[in-house]
Amino acid sequence: MTGHKHFADLSQASLEETSIFDSKYFPNPWTKAKWNQVSNGELGPCMLGLVYKDKRLVGLILFGIADPDTGHLYKILVSPDEQGSGLSQELLLRSESHLQHGKYISVYLEVEQSNLRALAFYQKHGYQVLVKKKGFYGAGRDGLALEHILPKLV
Ligand SMILES: CC(C)(COP(=O)(O)OP(=O)(O)OC[C@H]1O[C@@H](n2cnc3c(N)ncnc32)[C@H](O)[C@@H]1OP(=O)(O)O)[C@@H](O)C(=O)NCCC(=O)NCCS
Repeated sequence: MTGHKHFADLSQASLEETSIFDSKYFPNPWTKAKWNQVSNGELGPCMLGLVYKDKRLVGLILFGIADPDTGHLYKILVSPDEQGSGLSQELLLRSESHLQHGKYISVYLEVEQSNLRALAFYQKHGYQVLVKKKGFYGAGRDGLALEHILPKLV
């Protein structure tokens, strides 16, 4: 993955930058405290990919582990000027390939039902709705749980 990093290697500076990027553009950004939790391992093992363009952070993808053979896609975020460029697809496919080689068989995620662009993106990449989660993002804001069964490596 371009600029791929594990949290173990994440410096305080890039953690700060990641958190600012998230709060600027993500629909439901995490608090700094939550990012610190991920960074110090309280959320379990995580895999973070960061993409820089001209030294500017333009993309991130973050996975945790849902169960021993399922990756949990916590976040994918590409800066507005890079959306529609194919960068999101590259981030997702490279991460999925990494998971496949690590013997994971599926990816799980939650997305707000009203986030039509993200939903279209996931469905285009083989993700299917498992269940609706009423009020998952707050009152009147429903979520959808999605799953993608990763193709078997030949
Ligand atoms: C979700 C995200 C990573 C997708 O990346 P992207 O570069 O925008 O993805 P794409 O350009 O492939 O767009 C996905 C699809 O949505 C379609 N789309 C674009 N705008 C749309 C809109 N307003 N409503 C519905 N669909 C839309 C696109 O046409 C495309 O489908 P197509 O390839 O068949 O034409 C990116 O939009 C993003 O970072 N969003 C903000 C963070 C976020 O919401 N992350 C997901 C939270 S779970």
